[in-house]
Amino acid sequence: MDTFPRSKLPDVGTTIFTVMSRRARELGALNLGQGFPDYDIDPRLTELVGAAMTQGHNQYAPMEGLIALRERIAQKLLMSYGLTVDPESQVTVTLGATEAIYSAIQAVVGPGDEVIVFDPSYDSYDPAVRLAGARCIRIPLMPPGFRYDWDRVRATINDRTLLVLFNSPHNPACTAATTEDLNALADVIRGREILVLSDEVYEHVVYDNRKHASVLMQPELAEKSFTVFSFGKTLHATGVRVGYCIAPAVLTRELRKVHQFNTFSIAHPFQHAIAAYLAEKPDSWRGLPAFFQAKRDRLRNALGRSAFRLPPAQGTYFQLLDFSELFPPGDAGFADRLLTEAGVATIPLSPFYAKAPALSVVRLCIAKRDATLDEAALRINAFAERLGKAGA
Ligand SMILES: Cc1ncc(COP(=O)(O)O)c(C=O)c1O
Repeated sequence: MDTFPRSKLPDVGTTIFTVMSRRARELGALNLGQGFPDYDIDPRLTELVGAAMTQGHNQYAPMEGLIALRERIAQKLLMSYGLTVDPESQVTVTLGATEAIYSAIQAVVGPGDEVIVFDPSYDSYDPAVRLAGARCIRIPLMPPGFRYDWDRVRATINDRTLLVLFNSPHNPACTAATTEDLNALADVIRGREILVLSDEVYEHVVYDNRKHASVLMQPELAEKSFTVFSFGKTLHATGVRVGYCIAPAVLTRELRKVHQFNTFSIAHPFQHAIAAYLAEKPDSWRGLPAFFQAKRDRLRNALGRSAFRLPPAQGTYFQLLDFSELFPPGDAGFADRLLTEAGVATIPLSPFYAKAPALSVVRLCIAKRDATLDEAALRINAFAERLGKAGA
């Protein structure tokens, strides 16, 4: 035996998010890398968490989630999409979207199965599939447009394909799928025993009056999908770690079999607090697109003066920065120089590909205080000038 214990994920290191956040801290840099807000959450939510603990909601919550919260989630889906879901049999509260993704995969994917994933793909997908004994077939979305090639998906599907893992709005490509994309997905899996796991954590972070196209709105897909959401994004509180999964009753039953032995149940006081918050402010999320669009536009305007280019951002917490005019291809090298020489942490996209193309973009997080965005833009603009002069 070469090593003991045998690693089940020998090639998995620390995520690029953790690495960049740690380096940003060490170097005292601005962190536009990892996707989390640096501004305060609504103080009312903080009060409600305190109240829930004071009221004694400090023991195990129900395994599937507090019914009061599941009812609020059902109400939110009705308000956002006109959808009726049964809170008892179709809504499960999870430990963030991450647990929903993991538990859904463990619930239905097994040895020998193939899961279609679109690269650049969120980094939790592939390890979860491998721990289930299956493998990801990774179909690249290529810059600059990162659009889906549905013919390629059709050609990739075979009898081993069990699941398609879909993400929209897409992190890190910053694109939003269209209704046509969802119809195409429904079309390529029609008549086959293939399920969908749709990661929609950025459902409310869409720009330019775009409407989020949820698989729940596509009747054929809704029938065969786990759809995952995150209160971390919706309440600007990524540390609260409460998410949820919507799925038909038959899939929800399987999901809960894993969920109950994975996390068992989710922080009880937080569930009470979020349910109370949604009761008080049932549509607070309606302001999110405008809130984040103002941040995106602020950063775009401030960076517009530099020789870096800014690809369109249709949604998510992020904006891509295209450095092809000023720096040779290689996003990791560029991110390193920007961090060490300009004091701004970003995220390269290559770690999100199985086989990364030569990339000339890095990801910037826009979910930051205006002052953070302004200072980051000053530093990035000054770096662009230095690069321009060095190249001139
Ligand atoms: C695309 C995507 N999926 C899932 C997650 C994880 O969500 P949560 O923090 O609710 O676990 C994130 C978080 O950044 C994400 O960007």
